[in-house]
Amino acid sequence: MPATRAEQGIVNMSSEEASRGFSPLNWISRQARSVYHCQISCDDACFQPAPNQSGNEPFAAVLNRRISRRSLVKAAAVGAPLLALSTSPLGSQIFGSAPLASTASAASSTVGLVSIPHDLDDQVNVSPGYSSNVIVRWGDAVLPGAPEFNLNGQTAEAAAKQFGFNCDYNGFFPLLPGQSKRGLLAVNHEYTSGIDMFPGYDADNVTAEQVAIEIASHGMSVVEVERAEDGSWSYSPSSTHNFRITGETPMKLTGPGAGSIYTITNADPSGVDVLGMFNNCSGGRTPWGTILTAEENFHQYFGNAVNDPRAPRYGVPEAESRRHWEDFNDRFDLDQEPNEVNRHGYLVEIDPYDPTFTPRKHTAMGRFKHEAATTTLSDDGRVVVYSGDDQRFDYVYKFISNDRYNVFSRTANLDLLSTGTLFAARFNDDGTGEWLPLVAGSPQLPTWTTAGVATFTRIAADAVGATPMDRPEDIEVNPVNHRVYIALTNNTRRTVDEIDSANPRGPNTHGHILELTENGGDAASRRFTWDIFILCGDPADDEQETYFAGFDKSQLDSISAPDNFAIDLNGNLWIATDGQPSKLNQADSIYVVPTAGPERGRIRRFMTGVPRGELAGPEFTPDFETLFVSVQHPGEGDGLDEPSSTFPDGDFPRPSVVAAYKDGGGVVGT
Ligand code: FEO
Ligand code: CA
Ligand code: CA
Ligand code: CA
Repeated sequence: MPATRAEQGIVNMSSEEASRGFSPLNWISRQARSVYHCQISCDDACFQPAPNQSGNEPFAAVLNRRISRRSLVKAAAVGAPLLALSTSPLGSQIFGSAPLASTASAASSTVGLVSIPHDLDDQVNVSPGYSSNVIVRWGDAVLPGAPEFNLNGQTAEAAAKQFGFNCDYNGFFPLLPGQSKRGLLAVNHEYTSGIDMFPGYDADNVTAEQVAIEIASHGMSVVEVERAEDGSWSYSPSSTHNFRITGETPMKLTGPGAGSIYTITNADPSGVDVLGMFNNCSGGRTPWGTILTAEENFHQYFGNAVNDPRAPRYGVPEAESRRHWEDFNDRFDLDQEPNEVNRHGYLVEIDPYDPTFTPRKHTAMGRFKHEAATTTLSDDGRVVVYSGDDQRFDYVYKFISNDRYNVFSRTANLDLLSTGTLFAARFNDDGTGEWLPLVAGSPQLPTWTTAGVATFTRIAADAVGATPMDRPEDIEVNPVNHRVYIALTNNTRRTVDEIDSANPRGPNTHGHILELTENGGDAASRRFTWDIFILCGDPADDEQETYFAGFDKSQLDSISAPDNFAIDLNGNLWIATDGQPSKLNQADSIYVVPTAGPERGRIRRFMTGVPRGELAGPEFTPDFETLFVSVQHPGEGDGLDEPSSTFPDGDFPRPSVVAAYKDGGGVVGT
């Protein structure tokens, strides 16, 4: 039996709450609100038993128990900056090498914007001197013939032609090379929430039409967008470039898992032809101009995983699902189609320039709850893709293609992600790390097949001894300093006894950010070094262990639950959060923080979101003059009668994409 929420201590007020005068009632109410987000976005993953029961002891765990959590708190409380630790032997165990003293630029900061205060109002706020506007909303027309959105008259047919629900990742694709004022915006639709979509919704009596509408509201929209003279953006409902991907769109599996005994179903004896993608969260762009979009919490759409010993490792419901899709569509009923769930949980490649391109689910990059899909090239031209598995105590991965990027053949590049080697990360206590290959037949995986590794990747990574992390979210490669930034959003279930150098807090309420340097600066390296860049939280609260690359905490904004990243032309890290309302009683926000120079670690709040809505998918145009951001799940869980947010129009909440830009033009953030 999972522990109750009360047993897990989630109703305890932190001293921060107490000092701000929150009542326990408010606190419980805030918690209750966050619980719905947990249920609907990931099927309450944090309140289920951790799927990773491998017992993998973090390599560093024994050594790190000596680094007591108490000693860190004490250091912070007496005013000893944690930076000082970084030059001590203890500090080098916790933070790796000294924070960039050797590589920091002597130049002044490249961030020029004014930080804004946190708030709980129902609008998107940006720094002074900037503006934002809504580009496209849930229900807006994407395809020809799409009817005007009618909240009370939704149909699946209409939804498949309209902008889907809960936008997350944004990818901007110029229509001409380098173009920044016109292009295609590819937007993930991560998940649906019936109570926030259908007036009078009854979760215990969902209808076939509601299920069909929700399936059609997943996937992706690609829309043509254009910037006006005043900096604002709009999309073209009639553009011939527009298209939709839904939960019913035909796709192909590629790689070692395609056509295997694990992917054959009654409906598809080939084991290759899949319908749709679900829970696509973050993503990325490839050097050849395609999208990689990440299927994350795919497990929740299926029910009745009876007699499947591998289901618990993925959290697949062994009885009925919360969504009840299996009651209406056999492919979601694993008692009837036990392999259907093995056809989801992949990085999916989509060509934004070609609506007729059949999306490819690349099994070579593994099956897990993918968050990121960040592509770079190795020194010898192979393709390297980083991806995190967003579950508490799961792993960070990278894939290296067998073949090299071909600058002359886009067609050839479309096959690159079908063959290669997948690795899982082990973070050593001494600030070094290793990429552990997941190779069938290796000494760690002697009885495995390549199809098995591709399909049950988590279990293979358990066997090689990867390091269980605090929910890996987005990963970005910084083109300026070539370091790899990894968001670990939080892990409230890690105990003090489970901390290690790379996950140094238990519980980890506010999350942290790691900075990884591949040996020799080569993305294909098998070894790396790493530092902790930021331990998130409220820097004004001495009771919290926070760390901002050693920057003076008296000048910093609070931040919790880092989720998505973007990196600007100066190498500054832009961070979107998902979870601040319940953790800091403030709206989810976008921050910017320099990664080098005198202001390395100085975090500033650039944008604030709306009640119960996260900000997601930050994406710059090539000229860095526009930042696209998804306002996901405004007013989530409130229903449509009295939602806490009516963003953006004031009548009912609609997940939307906004653009932020400098008044009068210029590079965002400078
Ligand atoms: Fe959909 Fe890991 O957030
Ligand atoms: Ca995310
Ligand atoms: Ca990103
Ligand atoms: Ca999220």
